[in-house]
Amino acid sequence: MTDSDAGTTGALDSAFRADVLRGLQSHPRAIPARWLYDHAGSGLFEDITDLPEYYPTRTERRLLESHCPEVAEIAGTGHAVVEFGSGSSVKTPILLRAVKPAVYVPIDISGEFLRESNAVLAKDFPDLDIAPVEADFMHPVEMPEAAQKLPRIGFFPGSTIGNMVPRTGVDLLRRMRENLGEGALLLIGMDRVKDEEILVPAYDDSAGVTADFNLNLIDRINREVGGDMPREKFRPRAVWNASHSRIEMHIEALEPVDFTVGGERFHMEAGETIHTENSHKFAPRDQRLLLRAAGWEPIREWTDEKGWFSLILAEATPQRFAP
Ligand code: AVJ
Repeated sequence: MTDSDAGTTGALDSAFRADVLRGLQSHPRAIPARWLYDHAGSGLFEDITDLPEYYPTRTERRLLESHCPEVAEIAGTGHAVVEFGSGSSVKTPILLRAVKPAVYVPIDISGEFLRESNAVLAKDFPDLDIAPVEADFMHPVEMPEAAQKLPRIGFFPGSTIGNMVPRTGVDLLRRMRENLGEGALLLIGMDRVKDEEILVPAYDDSAGVTADFNLNLIDRINREVGGDMPREKFRPRAVWNASHSRIEMHIEALEPVDFTVGGERFHMEAGETIHTENSHKFAPRDQRLLLRAAGWEPIREWTDEKGWFSLILAEATPQRFAP
């Protein structure tokens, strides 16, 4: 889920500029989280996944190691595995080794990220047919030839679904169902609601990596949209929003600050923020409701001993004549 490669992207540059200007003008100010993940931001996110406070990645990795063999028992082998977002070098191989797909189809908006992650995978799986698709998976995606006639397993790890407000998350899950077809399976990772004392430090780590990850957005704005936002006059904040059941990341002005971005002038008061990311946390019922709202019936759910993270296998069931 990334998009900063200089090569591909006049269109992305202007989308970034439009989102930044609109986001800085709106109240409350907010910039879509996708723009955090340029090359530097993606690298910083990788660093976040190693932090002691950031439990999701290692918890999910352990769940995948323990339960992908069961996924293979339920699903069988020889599928097309379709990953939404270019694969993680750690998680994807765990699934591929267990379900031994005939084809692996990573879908990502950034061709550069696809090429990077495929080069790594191709080394470890020399016999695997890798058929990448450069596309925005929020829209209809045509399956590559090699995957046309195969049963499909979608893979959407990392609780990336938690980045989206429920309305957008349901849109995405429905779109995945359309792209994968009836009868397909989806293996999805979703982060759970837990004590605020655990959640907040995961997004406000003592080494300050998450702070850099957020402040990188200021650097990116200054560089790519043309601006003079003073990085030192802002600090990142992680806030638990209980009503929406989400961690919110904001960049807060430490003092009154004036700056220019893309030729427009802005003023922020001390304490005003720019909202940069949401990370929704789900109770087990929320997870099932979100999936069912989009036509996915959960068939297996796994969690760790603390109940901190869930791995769910769901099926694209036909729509029943209801009640
Ligand atoms: C990539 C969306 C799963 O929400 O935990 C982590 C992003 N941002 N720390 C998350 C993130 C800051 C992460 N996701």
